Amino acid sequence: MELKNQIVILTGASHGIGRATAVVLAEAGYSLVLVARNQIPLQKLAQTLTQAGHRAVAIPTDMGDVAQVAGLVDKTIAIFGRIDIIINNAGIGVYSPLATLGQTDAERVMAVNYFGPVALIQATLPFLTANQQGGQIINISSIIGQRAMPNAAGYCASKAALERMSESLRLELWTNNGSHIHVSTIYPGVTATDFVPRSLGNTAELPSNRMAGVPPERVAQAILRTIQTKKRDVFITSIDWLFVTVSAVAPRLMDWLLFYYTRNRGGMKP
Ligand SMILES: NC(=O)c1ccc[n+]([C@@H]2O[C@H](COP(=O)([O-])OP(=O)(O)OC[C@H]3O[C@@H](n4cnc5c(N)ncnc54)[C@H](OP(=O)(O)O)[C@@H]3O)[C@@H](O)[C@H]2O)c1
Repeated sequence: MELKNQIVILTGASHGIGRATAVVLAEAGYSLVLVARNQIPLQKLAQTLTQAGHRAVAIPTDMGDVAQVAGLVDKTIAIFGRIDIIINNAGIGVYSPLATLGQTDAERVMAVNYFGPVALIQATLPFLTANQQGGQIINISSIIGQRAMPNAAGYCASKAALERMSESLRLELWTNNGSHIHVSTIYPGVTATDFVPRSLGNTAELPSNRMAGVPPERVAQAILRTIQTKKRDVFITSIDWLFVTVSAVAPRLMDWLLFYYTRNRGGMKP
């Protein structure tokens, strides 16, 4: 099938990693359903891509609202008649020690980062299954879903939930002659976007000297490669991979490293 006919639902498409991914995928020839809450930046992006000769529509949706997620899938089918790939990229952070983590913030981060992707997967599975070419589900997690940082328990738990769900789903969709629907998880480390100022919780207390991080375009290229290679687990940098690997083989050492790193950065993190 020609790429132009491959329909991708991309959530969190208006800023940061999602915006960079929209540009990279459009230039690679995919047709895009762009999703985020705020209509104006989303529609501007759809317009820019369309004027450049690409195929993109904006469908404003709050991924934290399962009824809106169902509406997103209905609208996509009404416009394109099929779905080939979904990329669960929309996400929010929450920075707070667990002792003072508010119930509303804790529920909101789970709603957007975990229940939204679950709702999108459930609503699109019948279309991905019916797809003769096979479908693909890509979930954007974080290295701190693999190994939590202090003062980010709510966010890390939401990403860990996303990762465990992806593992379970991969086996549920497995067939004897290889999986028909491929499930990939991507684990970015610190990325240079406005993710932190947009986060819930005590972001004002975060130190201003946060690591610079990789450009979002680098994550976008990794997402394109994941579509092409259907790789199971994807890290962006070797430092990210090392962080997760050391955490798995020497968890107590990582406890010490994170304790001193956090203390030296004034307590609030990451
Ligand atoms: N930046 C990092 O350092 C980093 C590291 C690891 C993992 N990640 C993960 O990468 C993903 C993208 O992060 P980013 O850094 O690109 O963040 P970002 O720059 O803050 O962009 C987030 C995008 O998600 C959308 N969004 C937020 N809440 C939404 C909701 N309820 N429904 C629909 N869309 C929503 C935002 O648009 P609206 O506000 O208009 O809805 C925006 O388009 C997230 O899942 C994040 O957890 C980021």
